[in-house]
Amino acid sequence: MTDVLLRLSGVEFAYDSARPVLTDVTVDVETGRRLAVLGPNGGGKTTLFRLAVGALAPQAGHVEVAGKPVRRTRAGLLALRQRVQLVLQDPDDQLFSASVRQDVSFGPLNLGLSDTQVRQRCDEALTALGINALAERPPHLLSYGQRKRVAIAGAVALRPQLLILDEPTAGLDPAGVEALLHTLDDMQTTGTTVMMSTHDVNLAFRWADTVVVVSGGGARTMPVAEALADAALLAGAQLAPAWAPLVHRLLDRLPGLDGARPRSATELAALLDAMGGAG
Ligand SMILES: Nc1ncnc2c1ncn2[C@@H]1O[C@H](COP(=O)(O)OP(=O)(O)O)[C@@H](O)[C@H]1O
Ligand SMILES: [Mg+2]
Repeated sequence: MTDVLLRLSGVEFAYDSARPVLTDVTVDVETGRRLAVLGPNGGGKTTLFRLAVGALAPQAGHVEVAGKPVRRTRAGLLALRQRVQLVLQDPDDQLFSASVRQDVSFGPLNLGLSDTQVRQRCDEALTALGINALAERPPHLLSYGQRKRVAIAGAVALRPQLLILDEPTAGLDPAGVEALLHTLDDMQTTGTTVMMSTHDVNLAFRWADTVVVVSGGGARTMPVAEALADAALLAGAQLAPAWAPLVHRLLDRLPGLDGARPRSATELAALLDAMGGAG
């Protein structure tokens, strides 16, 4: 039996009835997945995420978390937030406290945890994001990448089963992207399911196991290799073809590689070095 953490079925949503955004969206997010959500600007990725956390209600269809319909009552949303956390694309939509520690502690305090527990959750989240040294700093004086990490720490401190990140790598430098992926790997080993939107198809190929393409009002879920090998699908969703799956296809035609299939430029460079050594 597969364990579905989040299910949207037959979801329709429009901010304005003249312009429907999602017309028929069915997506299952299974526990343990690394799910990349791809699609054109304005395709409805953020809308889908806001439906998943009960910030929006669908006009038709259903949203369920762990088998239960999302209830948009105070109690329902409080319970939902302990399972599912959304980190907004712009950290400045999320950060408002005088210090990083206060910001990251806000969610756990709202859960009614003790001071000791709040402190423990906060320290754990700051460590996960590598930002302990920033704990007493005012968020608005930090760099964009640092503010993004603080926003993610705020969600991590709630220990969600499903962490949803809206374009988490947008605006990060390469070291920031590596640090984020490392953090997500750590979270995944402790059982967190992660879903992120991105425009970076190579990043999706490297990180995700499953892709959801949100485009034209619908959503298609597929294994990452299948989605990224589908040139028509990518073009239809205004996505650039990714080099990494093309390299894999090329390597499939070369003998003697023992199935080596690099998923990042670093891995490709290592393979080339190894081939140089052998040849
Ligand atoms: N608060 C809002 N009010 C009205 N229209 C909105 C609002 N937020 C998004 N939209 C519209 O909904 C569509 C989908 O937006 P969005 O979900 O943000 O897409 P994406 O995240 O894929 O770029 C776009 O046409 C956008 O202009
Ligand atoms: Mg968006």
